[in-house]
Amino acid sequence: MRRIELPVVLIGALLGGVFAVAPGTGGQSALYGSLRKKWLATRQSALDLEVAGDLEGLPAGSTRYIRRDDLLALPQTSFTAVGDDKFTGPTPVSGVAFDELIRALGREPGSDLVIAVASDGYRSNFPADYIAAHHPLLVLEIGGKAPPDWPKDAGHGVYMGPYTVSYDNFVPSFKVFAHADEEQIPWGVIRLEFRNQKAVWGAIEPRGLHASDAAVQAGYRIAEQNCFRCHNAGREGGEKSGRPWLVLSAWATASPDFFISYVRDPKTKNPDSAMPGNPGYDDPTMGALIAYFRTFLSETPEKP
Ligand code: HEC
Repeated sequence: MRRIELPVVLIGALLGGVFAVAPGTGGQSALYGSLRKKWLATRQSALDLEVAGDLEGLPAGSTRYIRRDDLLALPQTSFTAVGDDKFTGPTPVSGVAFDELIRALGREPGSDLVIAVASDGYRSNFPADYIAAHHPLLVLEIGGKAPPDWPKDAGHGVYMGPYTVSYDNFVPSFKVFAHADEEQIPWGVIRLEFRNQKAVWGAIEPRGLHASDAAVQAGYRIAEQNCFRCHNAGREGGEKSGRPWLVLSAWATASPDFFISYVRDPKTKNPDSAMPGNPGYDDPTMGALIAYFRTFLSETPEKP
């Protein structure tokens, strides 16, 4: 396993927290906000990376585009990805570490969540603690090649460009019942959003009298890392499934058996399902998910 890191990466790692809370102190790194000078108002190429959200100098609601060449000009990190399901075997990758990219873009204070949006509506969420634990890499080259020459995804046989994410030795950092911290490996990423985690999570916070129950909170943690990638709550969350949060709540409340079978092995209920199963989710895990999803339909407190 080989890892090339320029000194600025090390400095960045040491000062990581400082950049996050005090973006005004840009003098610490020539990189800070450097991409802002180069971003474009309109897309010029299918390989441009769209960026949006709480970035310094970006008017609310607007988007900008970063050229792949400008990403290649940032310090690059390389390693051989091992055990990554989207590759058929150990595969050399290189690209920009998320920490590096965040610094080069210059995000606003309170912007502590990165959301990678794929062209099919899938969304991977990268909270600050996840980035600190796993150091995701925005992949620019696979086997030394640019996106058009990348291999197809090993599991689904699809084009992985223009952007995907990889890890140098992912080790899960938490476990909630049978759900272990899961590698977020989107492909087909076209856009990165820089957001406030609390604001985004607010859309899926459990409601009502049981909101703080331990099982509900456990279900929340699992749903946030798993289901939220493809199921939306209003304008937040993934749109790949076309089944919003309240539909899941309705199934969990009215037909828990269907819900349980669907989550464990969707093909038993829908042979054409595009949803990945979770065969390892045992009864306590499913119980937590059901308790959590039910809170959305029992929002009104009962009369005393
Ligand atoms: C990778 C994307 C993806 C993830 C992650 C995902 N789903 Fe789904 N889900 C889908 C898609 C797509 C559908 C639409 C039907 C299909 O293809 O199965 C769906 C449908 C469903 C349905 C059936 C709803 C209906 O009315 O047909 C349920 C229930 C469901 N999902 C629950 C969940 C829960 C709970 C989680 C988290 C533990 C989850 N899903 C995670 C993609 C996903």
